[in-house]
Amino acid sequence: MDKSKKIVLTGDRPSGALHLGHYLGSLKSRLELQGTCEQLIMIADAQALTDNASNPEKVRQNVLEVACDYLAVGLDPKQNIFFIQSLVPELFELTLYYLNLVTWNRLKHNPTVKQEITQKNFGESVPAGFMTYPISQAADISAFKANCVPVGQDQMPMIEQTNEIVRKFNTTYNCNVLVKAEGMITKFSRLPGIDGDAKMSKSLGNCVYLGEEAASLKKKIRKIPGDPNHTEINAPGDPDNALSFTYLRAFCQDKQKLEELETHYRKGGLGDGTVKQYLLEVLEEFLSPIRKRRAEFASDPAQVMRILKEGSLRAREKAAATLSEVRAAMHLNY
Ligand code: TRP
Repeated sequence: MDKSKKIVLTGDRPSGALHLGHYLGSLKSRLELQGTCEQLIMIADAQALTDNASNPEKVRQNVLEVACDYLAVGLDPKQNIFFIQSLVPELFELTLYYLNLVTWNRLKHNPTVKQEITQKNFGESVPAGFMTYPISQAADISAFKANCVPVGQDQMPMIEQTNEIVRKFNTTYNCNVLVKAEGMITKFSRLPGIDGDAKMSKSLGNCVYLGEEAASLKKKIRKIPGDPNHTEINAPGDPDNALSFTYLRAFCQDKQKLEELETHYRKGGLGDGTVKQYLLEVLEEFLSPIRKRRAEFASDPAQVMRILKEGSLRAREKAAATLSEVRAAMHLNY
């Protein structure tokens, strides 16, 4: 393998259509990386089942939703490998071998898993598959010898876990088969939900989706709270306290106009309605081409599935090559 080559592996659980938070948190970095390196983008359907085992139809439907979002924002199947996790069964064999290299105690203390167990109210009934998904994620990353994994801060423990496994594998089997991965924290900050909650998230019902229709976008923007201390138009307001400005800072290209608006808001005399009207224009301009492309892909699911299957074959070849090195290192090359 060319050591200088950057191999990027990223992915999403197909838990629903993607929204503006995903755009800022991950899709935008993927678009920037596209064409500069080898980028593999995985739809983690098997991981989605770790907390959703009884809902396979939903997971399957969401695989398509997520793929349509990727394609709609401009991620190109010619420049990236899109694949479905379960179509690369080599990942699960790797997972099984890695399971022996991690202690139960270590899994119990994974901060991401701990937090999710609380959020999902699993209590003592946490599925073993869920408990061990960090190991499966280590397989996802190491199967492709990915050295770069763009993630949000909350996924960093997964990279640490991966690198512990990489080190343990290479020392235990006295080889150099697996490659260390580096987490690349996205430089765009987390986007709050339209209700002001710190995180835009499907489960909180506070999202603007990439395929959001114009009419519902309008309704959603209208509801966005302004600075609570900005009680009348002429009072001074604080853009740092007004959600519309947070969104404008993320999506408005005309920085000069934005600065003027902020100054005006601070001084007083600029109503939240006017700011939101402008935000609506900005978001509509951003979303309308995405919405259009998304609808085109969504109307031809067979084509989308073909793209995913072709990518999965390519991914499978790469994973199989690593797996055969892994098996050889473990004296399993009968
Ligand atoms: N855990 C990621 C999520 O919640 C999805 C994922 C699975 C992933 N395997 C990965 C991300 C490997 C990066 C690398 O969306």
